[in-house]
Amino acid sequence: MSVQEKIIDESKQGEALFIESELKNGKKLFLESYGCQMNFSDSEIVASILMKEGYALTKDFEEADLIFLNTCAIRENAESRVRNRLNDFKRVKQKNSGALVGVLGCMAERLKSQLIEEEKLVDIVVGPDSYRDLPNLINEAEDGHKAINVILSKEETYADLSPVRLDSNGVSAYISITRGCDNMCSFCVVPFTRGRERSRDPESILAEARDLFGKGFREVTLLGQNVDSYLWAGGGLKKEVLTEEQKARSVNFAQLLEKVAMVNPLLRVRFSTSHPKDMTDEVLETMAKHHNICKYVHLPVQSGSSRLLEMMNRGYTREWYLSRMEAIQRIIPGCGISTDVITGFCSETEEEHQETLSLMETVKYDFAYMFSYSERPKTLAERKYKDDVPEEVKKRRLQEIVDLQRKHSTLRTAEGLGKIHEVLVEGVSKKSKEMLMGRNSQNFVVVFPKDGHQPGDYVNVLATLCTPSTLIGEVV
Ligand code: SAH
Ligand code: SF4
Ligand code: F3S
Repeated sequence: MSVQEKIIDESKQGEALFIESELKNGKKLFLESYGCQMNFSDSEIVASILMKEGYALTKDFEEADLIFLNTCAIRENAESRVRNRLNDFKRVKQKNSGALVGVLGCMAERLKSQLIEEEKLVDIVVGPDSYRDLPNLINEAEDGHKAINVILSKEETYADLSPVRLDSNGVSAYISITRGCDNMCSFCVVPFTRGRERSRDPESILAEARDLFGKGFREVTLLGQNVDSYLWAGGGLKKEVLTEEQKARSVNFAQLLEKVAMVNPLLRVRFSTSHPKDMTDEVLETMAKHHNICKYVHLPVQSGSSRLLEMMNRGYTREWYLSRMEAIQRIIPGCGISTDVITGFCSETEEEHQETLSLMETVKYDFAYMFSYSERPKTLAERKYKDDVPEEVKKRRLQEIVDLQRKHSTLRTAEGLGKIHEVLVEGVSKKSKEMLMGRNSQNFVVVFPKDGHQPGDYVNVLATLCTPSTLIGEVV
């Protein structure tokens, strides 16, 4: 998965902690997250920092002393959603003038002090690398000052902090392995909002994985904007400046993946996001070698046209991308594959749109996140190219892409019928209390009767029925 602009629903874990930490400073924090998994993972760091300060989590912003939105800036509509949400908080401010409103994350980083000027009720603005400064910033805001810290760091990875698992099913958890991005895709705001790429110490990643396993978790997803460029060489040194000795001692993504897989054979490992220009055969071979590394790759293509890929500064062509697809199927037969697509990028012609459709037809993805291009201030594309595909054309092309993907998802799900799937149970199915849900290695959702099984169990399910996106079956 990459971008899910969903609202976080604070966990039961949060409620339990609420009672415990209410004894501390008596103040309540409402924390809502938008954007990608990395932002959700950051919110777990923010919660950890503030709970140490004595804050309790609440699901009800009306009773909160601190209202925090962890925001996304990836597309214009991600930002308008946050602005609308800020409006909802006006009432709380009127009722309780002591309540503080903070904007965190990528939109905070992009707009900086402008956000305080534009949105009068915002008291605190904090970028993604400044969460350790939150207690100070809150103090400043409590003293009536507007508080802002949007300094980006070349080192910060929050490696030593233990995230508080929010919205957790107790089975799967995220672990951040890199922060930032050095790629400069021309459409993308992330390098501006999250700064330079840096990798986290593998020992702290392994310690987090072991700790999660000990607490009953059975799946970790390693997160980064481009996990394939993970490299740890002691002090987080960059590839380009390494001596031979440092190179020999460094840990790359394939090696990290293997280390995490070896924490325990019952701990499933997933990762996101891979980049087509950097995904190596070594990574694929490591996946093939370990049963507990899930056979699933999310490989964003963005466009099927080499000319547009060049303009997007993605660093690969259509042919290269398809050759990576072949490598995946050769090394990991039956591997699940999903993607991200952007339609209506600057100067995209009808033929180039057809190239995207034909690439999708060739690959037949299991799943895709599909977006129409949204011009972002300061990006390369905004400075160099004209956002000239009319809105109605973008809309129509996106619909064609969505329709084709729906067909492929249905087809791919149905391929699972009549087969036995190893499923990690995540919880009760949304549709029926008598059914459990989990995922197979390829990331398909599988639903089956409870029969005494528990979240965290591995079960073998024979799929006998399906909907367009879910397999339904019985434990065998
Ligand atoms: N690091 C990941 C993706 C990060 S953003 C990668 O390189 O693949 C998630 C997705 O949002 C991108 O893959 C892209 O499809 C989409 N996206 C990013 N910027 C966008 C923009 N300006 N307009 C529309 N979609 C965008
Ligand atoms: Fe954005 Fe490209 Fe970095 Fe992904 S790889 S976060 S799309 S700049
Ligand atoms: Fe993620 Fe959105 Fe920031 S996609 S990195 S939260 S701009």
